[in-house]
Amino acid sequence: MATERSTPTVLFATAEFGPYVKVGGLGEASSGLAGSLSSMGVGVTVVMPDFGLIELEDEKRWPLTGLPSWCPAIEARSGRTDPETDPETDADSGRDIDIILLAFEGGVRPHPYFDPATGESWPDATWFYMTFSAGVAALAAEERPDVVHLNDWHTSAAVLRLPSDVGSILTVHNLAYQGVDDPAWLGRMMESVDASALRVDPNAFLVDGAFNSLAGGISGADRIVLVSESYRDEAISEAGGFGLHHQLRQRGDLVSGIRNGIDLGLWHPADDLRLPVGFDHGDLSGKEICRKELLKEADLDADRGPVIGMVARLVHQKGIDLALDLVPFLDSLSARLVLMGSGSPALAEKVRDMAELYPNHFAGFCDYDETMAHLIVGGSDLLLMPSRFEPCGLTQLQAMTCGTIPVVTAVGGLRDTVVDTDSCPRRGTGFVAERATSLDLLNALHRACRGWSNPRRRAAVQRRGMTADWSWTKPARQYLELYRELQ
Ligand code: GLC
Repeated sequence: MATERSTPTVLFATAEFGPYVKVGGLGEASSGLAGSLSSMGVGVTVVMPDFGLIELEDEKRWPLTGLPSWCPAIEARSGRTDPETDPETDADSGRDIDIILLAFEGGVRPHPYFDPATGESWPDATWFYMTFSAGVAALAAEERPDVVHLNDWHTSAAVLRLPSDVGSILTVHNLAYQGVDDPAWLGRMMESVDASALRVDPNAFLVDGAFNSLAGGISGADRIVLVSESYRDEAISEAGGFGLHHQLRQRGDLVSGIRNGIDLGLWHPADDLRLPVGFDHGDLSGKEICRKELLKEADLDADRGPVIGMVARLVHQKGIDLALDLVPFLDSLSARLVLMGSGSPALAEKVRDMAELYPNHFAGFCDYDETMAHLIVGGSDLLLMPSRFEPCGLTQLQAMTCGTIPVVTAVGGLRDTVVDTDSCPRRGTGFVAERATSLDLLNALHRACRGWSNPRRRAAVQRRGMTADWSWTKPARQYLELYRELQ
């Protein structure tokens, strides 16, 4: 153990780590936070499953010990991620970080959660992440960091096997995914654990008769963080807790909200190599060029009203259906919508149908492409985020940094980061729909189009968004405070 007030050592366990393995916000948040902590001098080592996608500098390999008998042998591969900046983007996000990859037989797969060929979840997902969680605990027993920082259900069950002198933090990025499976998993995870050393009542891992990895992590971790303050408040309410509000409430003040940041190395429009031309708040002429390029790529008409962008996973949470409901009204708003995201095949089909029906107003891209994501976020006038719930949301922060005005629902991190311009004319940074309904969203979009058409108002809203500090610096300091409490 490090002595008090020395810089804490942290083992940061995650299923995703950008830019190498990134499905959604978790991958981006993991590398953004780890990078920021590491630049503040915190000894952070990332641990993730070895998906075969990261090459390590100065690699060392060794077998982990202390695993349950059902677990395959795990080889730890430690090293540093590539120290050079990404040649495509010149960005250093996720680079030059200490990382340990856990490799095990049957574990190499092209995607952390789904079979890309069928879009179905891997049938052995619980086995995979329980193996990973047992590996994280075994690694913690060897390395004895001050704190193990767990993320989401994929790592939560590690709290059952962590040594008692190691602190633990669980960040919940999304309560909708809990790792629910056969109750026999509890016995498997507890195999050879000394019952007197348990930091959590094992029954906390059983919810409605099923094994629930996230529920147990919430009950057992020393601190629980939700990724924004409003999401914390929603999470402890019956409506927003996805069945885990009791477990969260029981932890009282140990549950807090820390908003995510964004990696400005990746998302600053002045030096974003993925954009055709850079720009900043002092000179937005480059944004106009990006906008033209976006319309060209989307095959949409150039000389009409605002261009609305949307980049989101195609899942119910993100309100894709609500956005599609707005498409028939775009003509009367003189607006066009460009949507991109991958996910549910059923939603992708709806997106394609709509694009066929409204080719002059709507373009949909159902395969995620990073360069196109930057062009949509940077080149649009408005960014639509009609989420039904949103733990934090990163795209609205990226949009504001690029002078793209967000139109969002009043949920979770969106509520905390976007100020409605009509309600607060001097502080407004976007437009907020009170509820996730087509009607409220249409109203907000209507107000946004009106605001955008007034050049003075538009410039003021853009400037406020572009000059706000959305970096990881402040949130990383808040995490550091929590680490120190556990040192
Ligand atoms: C999840 C949440 C999103 C959050 C991200 C990173 O993807 O849905 O709101 O920003 O995790 O924490």
